[in-house]
Amino acid sequence: MKKVTASAPGKLLLFGDHAVVYGHPCIVTAIDQRLSAIVELRGDNLFTVNAVDLKVVAYQKSIATVGQGEIPKAVQFLETILEQFLLQHPQKTGITVSTQSDFSSQFGFGSSSAVSVAFAKALYAAFGTDATKEDLFKLVYQSILKVQKVGSGFDVAAAIWGGTLYYVTPAKVVEKISITSLPLAVGYTGLKVSTAKIVQEVAVARTKDLTRIDGLFQRSTEIVEQARAALEAANWSEVGHLMNQNQTLLAELGVSSPELYRLIEAAKKAGAYGAKLSGAGKGDCMIAVVEAAQKNQVEAAINQTGGQALSVQPNAEGVRIEKE
Ligand code: MEV
Repeated sequence: MKKVTASAPGKLLLFGDHAVVYGHPCIVTAIDQRLSAIVELRGDNLFTVNAVDLKVVAYQKSIATVGQGEIPKAVQFLETILEQFLLQHPQKTGITVSTQSDFSSQFGFGSSSAVSVAFAKALYAAFGTDATKEDLFKLVYQSILKVQKVGSGFDVAAAIWGGTLYYVTPAKVVEKISITSLPLAVGYTGLKVSTAKIVQEVAVARTKDLTRIDGLFQRSTEIVEQARAALEAANWSEVGHLMNQNQTLLAELGVSSPELYRLIEAAKKAGAYGAKLSGAGKGDCMIAVVEAAQKNQVEAAINQTGGQALSVQPNAEGVRIEKE
């Protein structure tokens, strides 16, 4: 029976958090922490999931009932991907999907989008169906929207295209930013947040104060445009300076937190050029731009301030078939 393994990278949002939901650009980098999906075609008509990281072992139902009934939270993304795939490519062959992760789903590295992209890529390959990056994006993005209702899809794009991207939702613009390196430190706050909840809070704040919030998003666009040029020029002090500006804006938007603030300030004091939250905010991770010579100091400061420094390399390769 046919067996295909695909892997896709997690991501870090470098600039443009939240504004990207409202049609403004962002810059995202794919990271070297990957998620894998192994798809095996079966001799029967069952859909089976083994996702040890998600504490799912031997979840099973008939292919004909995929997308129906009560779907446990842990398998929602995978089952919805399969449901959407079957709508486009109806067939009755059973499949088993097993997933493996290099990283904890707590960090906010985009595990749902990475596992969804890896699964979709492996599915297309297992059934011998051609899919462009755009096809893959459409299938995964619509599945993710079906499950979590909100999201700009920047994380899906990072998992598919890889590298460092200038992105406008929904993949209206996906442009690779050519960088050879990007000296980053990453600190986890220890707080898991619900992206959907924070995106919703921003939406409510925006309806109450449209002019102010859209003004912040306009400023975000200016920062993103300048950051793109600074990244291409490898001007790290300018990239850091722009991160500080983006962080100020995100704090004004109300999505920072004391935990993020502490780690950001500690990183800057220890020698980082600049730092900001990455993603929805409130918790998850912060990022800092820091030269190699100062990296140990900055990571030590993050660890001593209640955070956890994570070893993450940016600009990683997008989704790929590992084994067929
Ligand atoms: C969350 O990781 C980033 C947000 O901009 C939401 C999104 O773009 O989907 C807050």
